[in-house]
Amino acid sequence: MAGPAAASSSDTFDAAVVIEIAEGLRGLDGPLLPILHAVNDRLGHVDQRAVPLIADILNLSRAEVHGVVGFYHDFRRAPAGRHRVQVCRAEACQAMGGEALASRLEQVFGVPFGQTTVDGRVTLEAVYCLGNCALSPAAMIDGEPVGRATVARIVEGVAR
Ligand code: FES
Repeated sequence: MAGPAAASSSDTFDAAVVIEIAEGLRGLDGPLLPILHAVNDRLGHVDQRAVPLIADILNLSRAEVHGVVGFYHDFRRAPAGRHRVQVCRAEACQAMGGEALASRLEQVFGVPFGQTTVDGRVTLEAVYCLGNCALSPAAMIDGEPVGRATVARIVEGVAR
């Protein structure tokens, strides 16, 4: 099994897109979050190299922009893997073995939550209630709900 490693963050970076988004939204009241969301949606993540571009356009320090990117779990800092595995870490799922499931998945895929396997196949993400508490522990694979999730079902789900 591969050791922990994040996928390269260079794949989808496009400075022109970042500048276009930031210039287009800079006039909003409180433009930083909408800009970061738009960059995350368009490019799949907020690359480290987007930070100085956005900071310059908004007349903020790089540290301020970087701090906001790091604070919100919504913003991905590297491209996602081909399969996105979201595992609920909220209370109902915790009570039904969700934490044991989560730590087994980290072992099986060789990466902690929030990272992508070195082959770019799987990204593990923690989420806090998928609205599927009755079928805890709950997970999602590429947007498809998995109730009463097990390691075997998740491994099978990303094998396709
Ligand atoms: S607590 Fe896990 S789906 Fe609601």
